[in-house]
Amino acid sequence: MGSKTIVSLLLHVIIVSITLTDAQTCYTTGNFTANSTYAKNRDLVLRSLASNVTNNGGFYNTTIGLGNDTVYGLVLCMASPSAENCSSCVNSAIQTLMAACPNQNEAISWGGNPLPCIVRYANRYFLGSLEQSPNSIFYNVGILDDATFRQFEQFWSGLGETRLSSNSGQGAVEFRNEVGLLAKLDHRNLVRLLGFCLEGTEKLLIYEFVPNSSLDQFIHDPNKRFILDWEKRYKIIEGIARGILYLHQDSQLRIIHRDLKPSNILLDGNMNAKISDFGMAKLMKTDQTHDAASRIAGTFGYIAPEYARQRQFSVKSDVFSFGVLVLEIVSGQKPSFRDGDDMEHLTSHTWRRWREGTALDLIDPILRNGSTAEMTRCIHIGLLCVQENVADRPTMTSVVQMLSNSSLTLQIPFEPASSLSYTSTMAQSQLKIIPLSKNEISIT
Ligand SMILES: *[C@@H]1O[C@H](CO)[C@@H](O)[C@H](O)[C@H]1NC(C)=O
Ligand SMILES: *[C@@H]1O[C@H](CO)[C@@H](O)[C@H](O)[C@H]1NC(C)=O
Ligand SMILES: *[C@@H]1O[C@H](CO)[C@@H](O)[C@H](O)[C@H]1NC(C)=O
Ligand SMILES: *[C@@H]1O[C@H](CO)[C@@H](O)[C@H](O)[C@H]1NC(C)=O
Ligand SMILES: *[C@@H]1O[C@H](CO)[C@@H](O)[C@H](O)[C@H]1NC(C)=O
Ligand SMILES: *[C@@H]1O[C@H](CO)[C@@H](O)[C@H](O)[C@H]1NC(C)=O
Ligand SMILES: *[C@@H]1O[C@H](CO)[C@@H](O)[C@H](O)[C@H]1NC(C)=O
Ligand SMILES: *[C@@H]1O[C@H](CO)[C@@H](O)[C@H](O)[C@H]1NC(C)=O
Ligand SMILES: *[C@@H]1O[C@H](CO)[C@@H](O)[C@H](O)[C@H]1NC(C)=O
Repeated sequence: MGSKTIVSLLLHVIIVSITLTDAQTCYTTGNFTANSTYAKNRDLVLRSLASNVTNNGGFYNTTIGLGNDTVYGLVLCMASPSAENCSSCVNSAIQTLMAACPNQNEAISWGGNPLPCIVRYANRYFLGSLEQSPNSIFYNVGILDDATFRQFEQFWSGLGETRLSSNSGQGAVEFRNEVGLLAKLDHRNLVRLLGFCLEGTEKLLIYEFVPNSSLDQFIHDPNKRFILDWEKRYKIIEGIARGILYLHQDSQLRIIHRDLKPSNILLDGNMNAKISDFGMAKLMKTDQTHDAASRIAGTFGYIAPEYARQRQFSVKSDVFSFGVLVLEIVSGQKPSFRDGDDMEHLTSHTWRRWREGTALDLIDPILRNGSTAEMTRCIHIGLLCVQENVADRPTMTSVVQMLSNSSLTLQIPFEPASSLSYTSTMAQSQLKIIPLSKNEISIT
């Protein structure tokens, strides 16, 4: 693939020689003397990395010292943000790193016990540069600007699709997709990408740390659901709507997410919603309104009928998923749930109650003290979003207006698409759910 070509193309790239299993690289860029200030700072940096990484979701960087004694440090845990495993990986990586590179100004360790983690320190600022090893591990941490993204694209083509796809199949395409899209996006209701790492089958995206996990971890948890009172849920609904609106039209790109669901809505420390997981997202030409997918991808219960049946997707298929999400947030019920002996579908269940005038019965009992008017309005908006006919569904622009202006009159909904009518006739295997989780995307 010609790493020389890549080096001459890319200014900030450093090629290092490493292998994945517990390898250390001691750079030959200079040595420090024992007991020097630099030596002490290095020890401080390594100690700080070890003790702070797990509190920060598996990624931590720090800088200690002044002038020539400055030490930059970085640590990240791949594959599992499990505190216990991350911590043991980092601690053993630091020990082997210090033994292998006792007095080098700069070193890196790719620990592998029990899970891969990267520990790195240097006397120079290395964040923001894309780094690669001859065996195709490459990573970037730092601001993923246009220049870095172009580097990424260069690397990507240099690596050769065959190697990537034979090793990691479809996952690699989604990974590139997500890096490519997220690099261009910036909105408070979208999770921010800080960096990435890729080695054959190991793929890692480093997101900004979003401490409170995802929406599904709250609304369906017997204890944590109480934390999300109506005010918080309303704020989350508004946040998701703004995030999707940005994707659909405000970002100068037209992006269809295609996999909106509660587990892809992350919550920050103030319970603000942040949409994540852009592995399925599709970039549209700005004048393009719909497209046909070569295969169906999405999640049972959230995908729109025209997408499931004809593989047609558009901004309105995201609107559909948003509608299911809203109904789920208000009711605390999953898109399909067991009611006695029957399987109930949230959309048809809601419609029945709505027609009978008993929509308030749908509301999650723990939301009793919330604003009934707002909750009813959200159910109404949810029903409009899950209309069978694509043209009857509002755009996200209208949805955001309907949510923010309570004097706007809402249309009367028709009977929504009953998920029963299409999901039960689809073989589960047709609905390929691609989990961009575990090994692929883990640190959130
Ligand atoms: C740095 O120290 C290592 C031993 O730890 C030694 O092999 C190497 O030659 C030294 N490099 C320089 C530039 O002094
Ligand atoms: C560094 O300090 C320790 C004790 O603080 C001492 O034992 C050791 O000899 C010192 N090493 C050098 C190279 O000065
Ligand atoms: C990082 O760890 C050090 C101890 O090694 C601690 O003093 C410091 O406060 C920690 N920083 C953060 C941001 O938690
Ligand atoms: C950590 O990395 C971020 C970029 O991801 C950078 O903005 C920040 O300054 C770094 N912090 C330290 C303490 O080096
Ligand atoms: C830092 O090191 C360079 C050479 O390595 C030297 O020229 C410079 O004076 C040093 N600066 C300080 C503040 O020590
Ligand atoms: C840590 O990793 C091991 C496998 O190496 C796994 O069995 C264990 O469940 C992990 N622990 C946690 C808390 O995830
Ligand atoms: C949410 O995040 C905040 C800030 O990090 C924290 O204080 C709070 O305990 C978290 N709540 C839950 C339920 O995790
Ligand atoms: C509803 O109750 C929760 C706590 O149970 C409280 O935080 C919230 O402010 C209440 N909301 C209203 C509108 O009274
Ligand atoms: C809210 O909607 C009403 C009815 O369409 C309109 O008169 C009013 O100007 C809107 N308010 C805002 C703040 O947009």
